[in-house]
Amino acid sequence: MRRHWEAQADHYCQNRSWSDVDQRAFELISQYKRGQILEVGIGPGLIASRVLDQHHDIRWFGSDVSPTFLKNAGELTAAKAILALADARYLPFKPESFDAILEMVTIHHFRRELIPLVIHELADTLKAGGQLISVEDWAAAPQTPREHLAHILQKKRLTSESGEEYHPSEDEWMDWFTHAGLQVTTPERIARPLNFQQFGDLTDTESTRQLAELQDLWEGQTPQTVMSIFICKKE
Ligand SMILES: C[S@@+](CC[C@H](N)C(=O)[O-])C[C@H]1O[C@@H](n2cnc3c(N)ncnc32)[C@H](O)[C@@H]1O
Repeated sequence: MRRHWEAQADHYCQNRSWSDVDQRAFELISQYKRGQILEVGIGPGLIASRVLDQHHDIRWFGSDVSPTFLKNAGELTAAKAILALADARYLPFKPESFDAILEMVTIHHFRRELIPLVIHELADTLKAGGQLISVEDWAAAPQTPREHLAHILQKKRLTSESGEEYHPSEDEWMDWFTHAGLQVTTPERIARPLNFQQFGDLTDTESTRQLAELQDLWEGQTPQTVMSIFICKKE
């Protein structure tokens, strides 16, 4: 898996742009003006760099499995974030170390049976009263024909079909957060531009037809997908 992320890291960082969902995650995490924050799967470090520019008393820790992502995050945050090469399942931090944890589209990159273990690991490293802010895609049930079609295509992607990644529904996420001792409220939903590149491995005739249909359904508009933001508090 590390090799997969290493291969993607530079391209991902160059193309990662700010959207409304980043803005909302930034607002939520900016409640913390001091203390220790952990971002799991920090990637390019986009949110970290904005927070660190504004809140000088925050100690922002970022973990990732990819050295190249960490290098990019180090540059973007002007070396102000404390970075660790670590798998989200085995975090190198003591229990109850953090006031808040942010994870954005990272912890679905585990097989289904491992995701609850990762959530427990995150909950362990949170202080009592601390918050986990989890931002995930493909969790909200599709409502419109174009959302249904995008979900069908998403499930056919190789990493989904092989089980290397798994996208729980909002209810499943909420169950797992609750089992890890976190109190979770109804998720917020925010639209984000839909990146068609993620369907690049779908080249069979049926998928090609469905992709063209999806493009048509969005004709003249920016294709979007619905993101879910879970705000979870450790009791
Ligand atoms: C889709 S990217 C998201 C990056 C960043 N959170 C963002 O919103 O731009 C997923 C990130 O999770 C990292 N990642 C994947 N598997 C991981 C694991 N097992 N432990 C920690 N990080 C992981 C990847 O290297 C990558 O940086």
